[in-house]
Parts: sequence; C-alpha cells; structure tokens
Amino acid sequence: MAKSIFELREAYFSYPGKIPALCGINLDIEEGSRVAIIGSNGTGKSTLLLMLDALLFPHKGTIKFLGKELKEALFNDPGFTRSFRSRVGFVFQNSDIQLFCPTVKEDIIFGPLQLGISQEQINRRLDKIIGIFNIAHLLPRPGHRLSAGEKKKVALASVLIIEPQVLLLDEPTAGLDPQTIRNIIDIILEFNQTGKTIITATHDLHIVEEIAGSVHILGRDKNIIRTGAPVQILSDQDFLRENNLTHIHSHRHQDTIHTHPHLHTEHHH
Ligand SMILES: Nc1ncnc2c1ncn2[C@@H]1O[C@H](COP(=O)(O)OP(=O)(O)OP(=O)(O)O)[C@@H](O)[C@H]1O
Ligand SMILES: [Mg+2]
Repeated sequence: MAKSIFELREAYFSYPGKIPALCGINLDIEEGSRVAIIGSNGTGKSTLLLMLDALLFPHKGTIKFLGKELKEALFNDPGFTRSFRSRVGFVFQNSDIQLFCPTVKEDIIFGPLQLGISQEQINRRLDKIIGIFNIAHLLPRPGHRLSAGEKKKVALASVLIIEPQVLLLDEPTAGLDPQTIRNIIDIILEFNQTGKTIITATHDLHIVEEIAGSVHILGRDKNIIRTGAPVQILSDQDFLRENNLTHIHSHRHQDTIHTHPHLHTEHHH
C-alpha cells in the first residue's frame, strides 16, 4: 500500500466567534493519489485545504504530514517551513490573494525566491512554466489587472514553478471558459503523472471524474459523509440532491415547463 501523505484524526476547527468549520475529520490521503473534496457552499472545503497547507491548525485532533504531526510551533523553524513550503503548493480559491507583486513575472518567481532557489534555476523553470501556460505576454503586466482566467493560470504557474510534491487546488476551474478548463485539467493531470499528489476542492462535478480517483463528500455537519470512486458517487442522484450538489431546474420549453434534476454546472438551455 502506498504511503500516506496526509493523515487527519478527529480534526476539529472553528473560526473566531465559534463558527464550526470542520467537525471531527478522519482522512487518509495516499502519496501520488488524485483526490477530490466535494460539498456545497460552506461545508468546509477551503478550510480543509487551508489545514492541509498548515495555514490553519486543528483545535482538537491531529493532522500529520508524512508521519509528522503538523503543529504551529514547527513553523518557527525556518528549515522546516522551507521544506514544507517547497513540498506543498496551494492554489487559492481567490486568485487575488496570490497575486500581489507589481508584475506577473514577479508573482511567478516570488515563491522560488522565498525558498532560496538559485536565480539560474528560477530562470530555467520560468521559461518552462511560461511555455506550458502560454503566458509570456502577461509577464510585464500587473496581476490584479488580468481577467479571472488569466489570473488563475498565473496563480497556478506561481505554484507549479515550486515543483511541489502535493498540489492543493481550491475550485481551480470556477468561472473559466471550457478551453481554459481543458487546458488547466491537462496540466494538472500531467503533474500527477510524475507521481505527485493532487487534492482538489470543487463543486464542478463535471471535472471530478477526470481529476480524481477518489472523492470525499463534506456534508452540512462539516464532516466527511461519504468516500468512494467518482462514478459510484456521481451516479447516486438522490444522495447528490440531498446534499445540495444537484438542483431541480425548471425551464420553459415552447410553452411547456419542464422540471428535471441536473448538475449544478450544466449549462441552462
Ligand atoms: N475567515 C472566516 N471567518 C469566519 N468564518 C469563516 C471564515 N471562513 C470560512 N468561515 C466559515 O466556515 C465554514 C466553512 O467555510 P469554507 O470556506 O471552508 O467552506 P467551503 O466549503 O469552501 O465553501 P465554498 O463552496 O463557498 O467555497 C462556513 O460556515 C463559513 O461561513
Ligand atoms: Mg471554498
């Protein structure tokens, strides 16, 4: 059996004001796997990814990374911080958090510079990454003035350039056009083929089968209510409806109103 990269045991987290966000999560993620975290709005997907990225720590219970318990105090050690940050990369739900430099080029090389990677190595990786994403023309521009899809590509490039072992993706395809989604999924899958782990939080059920070998569903009680293979979970319409992952859509069709359940992200016709 493959080695666990993350192990969570009875992990709890609440935001200030006692807003519960994760309630007793038990989760094992194997090295090299592709995992999707699904759930309706507010079920704790982003919080879970923030915990995997050690930006939040459980108030109760434990989280281990490669067998080592992640605790806030560990990150006082610059050596540990550097090693963890070079292994785990996070693409945030909101790209604006990730793009804060005067230019796109500076945003992309920010991570590698922080991690002490040599200038020569950075230049080599930069050439490669701008080729993959086809973003050479964006390099001199300020990141905050890009379109949403361009921002997402730059944010992803700024994380992939670190060449992490684990990629945490929070809603990587939200608001993007089909061609860009295709492009991003291909890049993500290629990354996984080199034995790296990919953990994606999404409610885009269309991409789940491609980007994940297993799926964990977060329910309203902010805990994992089901784990399984994508086909198994996606074919259970009743379960998806109960958990607000599909909705009954009614629309007018030549004077007749049709009502049928469908996936959240299907285009309304
Ligand atoms: N910074 C914060 N301060 C207080 N409460 C928060 C904060 N961020 C999230 N929450 C709360 O924690 C819970 C989980 O939020 P989280 O962002 O993890 O959900 P999510 O599944 O990612 O939702 P979405 O699908 O909308 O992205 C929600 O009840 C939310 O209101
Ligand atoms: Mg979220």
